[in-house]
Amino acid sequence: TELRQRLNRQRGPLGLRLINALTSAIEDDMIAAGEALPPEREFAEELGVSRSTLRQCLEQLAEDGLIETRRGAGHFVARRILKPVTRLTGFTDDMVSRGIQPVSKILEKTIMPVPPDTAFRTALPLGTPVFVLVRLRLAGDEILAYERSIVPVTSVGEDYDGTGSLYGRMDKHGGRPKRILQSMRAVEAGPEIAEHLKVKPSTAVLMIRRIGYGAHGVAVEDAISWYRGDRYDYVAEING
Ligand code: GLP
Repeated sequence: TELRQRLNRQRGPLGLRLINALTSAIEDDMIAAGEALPPEREFAEELGVSRSTLRQCLEQLAEDGLIETRRGAGHFVARRILKPVTRLTGFTDDMVSRGIQPVSKILEKTIMPVPPDTAFRTALPLGTPVFVLVRLRLAGDEILAYERSIVPVTSVGEDYDGTGSLYGRMDKHGGRPKRILQSMRAVEAGPEIAEHLKVKPSTAVLMIRRIGYGAHGVAVEDAISWYRGDRYDYVAEING
């Protein structure tokens, strides 16, 4: 099988080769997210390794968050979204490029004068009319993030209804951000976010803040998102 070929192409101790082969198979989507791995005995046979070697390797993969082990049901490839940080993309872009259907539920959409804390962060003049858009972001039917975006009305147009891609809409008015400042932090979900993300309040989630600047250096977005920590990875390639 292809998996066995991958294993044979690796070098080093068997356990490590097995981990690398399975990791690459998962990362290349050879084994798709959510898919069940074959039962241990069968899988060990297919790979030509002992069950105990396989089990050790699966334990490691589970610890790395690549697979999930459900008691009585077996092992499944975790449903994680790997998000590279090298390109400036929005949620819809990220989903579409993975062949996933992006879904948004609009929880709030209001026009108001820019809130003072946003004005402070973005240097937008006080009184600037903005949209406050609160959305639940899903990958198909799976909740991924809860997101609050504040954008000047001029960057989306007054008749913006909040549906579809925010960045797509911006592309048709003044343009999406050209440059962003972004910070990421692990936080406890807390009761409100937990309720939206359908996790326990003590669960760790990834809080991402983004301030986006348009062509002339004027802020076009002040956003804060909470991503489910069990379904979302930020991946960076860093040149040294
Ligand atoms: C990501 C960013 C947000 C941005 C959004 C736009 O989620 N963290 O700051 O507003 O993408 O996504 P879309 O174009 O799908 O609305």
